[in-house]
Amino acid sequence: MRTDLILSDIHSLNRTQALDILAQIARVEKKSFPANEVMSFGEELWRKKPNTRVLYTAASGANPPVVLAYAVYVRQKGVALLHKVCVAESHRRQGVGIQLMQYIRTRLQKEGCQYIQLWVDQDRAPARALYVRSGYAEREAIADYYGPGRTGIRMVLNL
Ligand SMILES: CC(C)(COP(=O)(O)OP(=O)(O)OC[C@H]1O[C@@H](n2cnc3c(N)ncnc32)[C@H](O)[C@@H]1OP(=O)(O)O)[C@@H](O)C(=O)NCCC(=O)NCCS
Repeated sequence: MRTDLILSDIHSLNRTQALDILAQIARVEKKSFPANEVMSFGEELWRKKPNTRVLYTAASGANPPVVLAYAVYVRQKGVALLHKVCVAESHRRQGVGIQLMQYIRTRLQKEGCQYIQLWVDQDRAPARALYVRSGYAEREAIADYYGPGRTGIRMVLNL
């Protein structure tokens, strides 16, 4: 488990810093997901969109920070929908993902959120294992949720 990590929110940064982090996230995103699943990480995410949060993990000491992982969630009253969790390939299996999930949980708990929900592709075994390890329970499976032959699984963590 790495102990040198900073976990933060792009809304705690100024515009220049936030745009740098978003550009780094966009590069990791492109490498990690097929083109039809790539999310856009433009400036609009930093301009106040109060319900949407972009969190990131960087190694402490690096200046400017180098993004190792990120997550995106949308909060609506007591429910948070966790849209995206990703660790840069070269930093996987070092406990970065589990720390990011713990950070999200603690933060949403503090904000008074009642539960976190997410959808995951049945075939994404590492992600499903991470979510189970983080306390999420599988609630339903929907065939073809992500396209023909790609089952989506809904998972929930009660806070
Ligand atoms: C899923 C992902 C975020 C995991 O991040 P990570 O930093 O490698 O995870 P950690 O090292 O913190 O591992 C935590 C737990 O997750 C599970 N896990 C992580 N990678 C795994 C793998 N390749 N195979 C099986 N289980 C895995 C394990 O239970 C692990 O606990 P353990 O190390 O005690 O066995 C990372 O693989 C990733 O970014 N994948 C591509 C993007 C993606 O699929 N995102 C989810 C959909 S949006």
